[in-house]
Amino acid sequence: MDTHSSTSSNPSFDTIAIEDLSRRGFIASGVGCLALSFFQNPLRAMTLQSGEAPLPFQFSGIPISNHDNVCVPKGYVARVLYAWGDPINGQGPRFKPDGSNSVAEQELQAGMGHDGMQWFSQPGDDDSRSDRGLLVMNHEYTDQGLLFADGIAKMTADKVRKSQTAHGLSVISIEAKSKNGSWKVTPSKWSRRITANTPMHLTGPAVGSPHMKTAANPDGSTILGTFNNCASGQTPWGTYLACEENVHKYFGTTNKDFKPTPDQQRYGFSIDGGTSDGLSIYNWWSHDERFDLSKHPNEANRFGYVVELDPTDPTSTPRKHSALGRLKHENAEVTLSASGHVVVYMGDDEKNEYIYKFVSKDIYDGKPENRAKHLQLLEQGTLYVAHFISGGTGKWLPLIHGKNGLTEKNGFASQADIHIRTRQAADRVGATMMDRPEWVAVNPITKEVFVTLTNNSQRGKEEPSSNPIDGTAIAGKSKPAVDDANPRAKNDFGHILKWNETNFDPAATRFNWDHFLLAGDPEIDAQVSIRGDSFGSPDGLSFDPRGILWIQTDVSSSKISTGPYKNLGNNMMLAADPKTRTVRRFLTGPNGCEITGMAMTPDLKTMFVNIQHPGEPDSGVSDPKAPKAVSDWPEGPNGGRPRPATIVIQRSDGREIGA
Ligand code: FEO
Ligand code: CA
Ligand code: CA
Repeated sequence: MDTHSSTSSNPSFDTIAIEDLSRRGFIASGVGCLALSFFQNPLRAMTLQSGEAPLPFQFSGIPISNHDNVCVPKGYVARVLYAWGDPINGQGPRFKPDGSNSVAEQELQAGMGHDGMQWFSQPGDDDSRSDRGLLVMNHEYTDQGLLFADGIAKMTADKVRKSQTAHGLSVISIEAKSKNGSWKVTPSKWSRRITANTPMHLTGPAVGSPHMKTAANPDGSTILGTFNNCASGQTPWGTYLACEENVHKYFGTTNKDFKPTPDQQRYGFSIDGGTSDGLSIYNWWSHDERFDLSKHPNEANRFGYVVELDPTDPTSTPRKHSALGRLKHENAEVTLSASGHVVVYMGDDEKNEYIYKFVSKDIYDGKPENRAKHLQLLEQGTLYVAHFISGGTGKWLPLIHGKNGLTEKNGFASQADIHIRTRQAADRVGATMMDRPEWVAVNPITKEVFVTLTNNSQRGKEEPSSNPIDGTAIAGKSKPAVDDANPRAKNDFGHILKWNETNFDPAATRFNWDHFLLAGDPEIDAQVSIRGDSFGSPDGLSFDPRGILWIQTDVSSSKISTGPYKNLGNNMMLAADPKTRTVRRFLTGPNGCEITGMAMTPDLKTMFVNIQHPGEPDSGVSDPKAPKAVSDWPEGPNGGRPRPATIVIQRSDGREIGA
């Protein structure tokens, strides 16, 4: 396709010659993706105006898909690299397709729910080396129906332990077998799993708070494990940031008389982990007492943070940074201010929650000999929350004890309280309720900041209500009226918003904002402002070093190809031009999956993408007797169960992705 003249998403001769890249090993038959493109309704497209600059990407956009496979543009190939149950050392123990791997085996294998992911050079290698490296990724959550041979029929202590072990992080060493050839996971001293039981240090204002002390850790400074790690971040000093999101689902109690406190309700904690979305079947509290809210109420305060891991030191202890606040963290986008302070942008992903940023107290100087100091930069600083003002301006409100009503009289006895009850502090200072803030991404060329607001079914109802300033809102229950920043009353499709900090300095306390686009199907909603290929529920968002904005979607399994999403097919990944808003579809995923997590080699010739929860049924829990009811990806009919996986995408001609 001539990128200078058209951004049409209509299926052209080029775009229908897509390769079917679904199956394990080499994948390029073309049959699966071909069929749909002849029958789909071409979605409305807009074209570039004459005089506009050429697009930063040049590949043929692909049609929507309802095929149970991964589709990428003509000239690209994709292969599976690292699926749930694959050994972290590339050798063993091997995955058992009936879900019968033991806890000990799962501890040495990929977890489930591949999500945020970053590339690191192997220690000793030049930073530009692109034929081997380390991949670090999150395993956000488990489909308990697939994880065990007998599904959720009867939870046992052993099954809880396996579930805890399939959560967390992977560090794997990977290597290209040959130029343009496939990649493999290799044995290495860095290969490692972090799980819900890995010891961690707590840092920042919350250390030693009475609300962080437990029977197992009376001084409130060490914590066991991390889980529901959604998206990620990467620091300039070479560490990985894992973000704890929906941690309330793992806590509950067997005490039938239990009533959650207002502070617990503000974060969604309940007697049974919450039942609204069908995923609350972990039941860890029945077999692991520390997750019982009646017995150990402070344990829940120790989750909802950003965790920093040094993947280059396999003996390092991960650290939870309370300075970055306690929320349902989506990702942690790191950039540097004009004066060298570290700035971390973060969304709190729930209906009508807020956008935050952290500015470090000390400075990053770029000197490798000062790495020990850099490793402490996320331990002290100022946490802000965003206030969007009608007309396109905004300000960052500091969450500092004693200021803006964050006083003892209002329930905040110390700075620690603000970092344990961060949502309540943000309620108090007047933060702006947003349509589910997901990933934040900073344009490396312009320093503009972009955020995905994935969708919101709790806005613009007849009786608007806000998160009250006394912090008593029940998570996700308020119904604010529409506002300038969140303009749709029933936001099925989500939008992407962007802002410029004053003087383009990420440490500034004022900004100007605008919408980048309102997502969706223009046949359904005339407000949609995408130029090019349609999509909804933007979630993953990441700039590559060339300034191409990559967007990944998370339409929930129950909504895919129905209702307002009837024309949009399976979840997908697209490239966007931040200047013209032109969007082009790059990848579509198998049935029931979400596309999330992206990393590239330094030469930009290899891209890694995560296919999360292929085969997820509407209920969120698969039936172990019919595990392939929705999808049999990636192994196809001969496989046992669908498996989340990292895929590798390359071009057959070996050139840069997207160029
Ligand atoms: Fe784990 Fe907000 O997605
Ligand atoms: Ca997400
Ligand atoms: Ca999501």
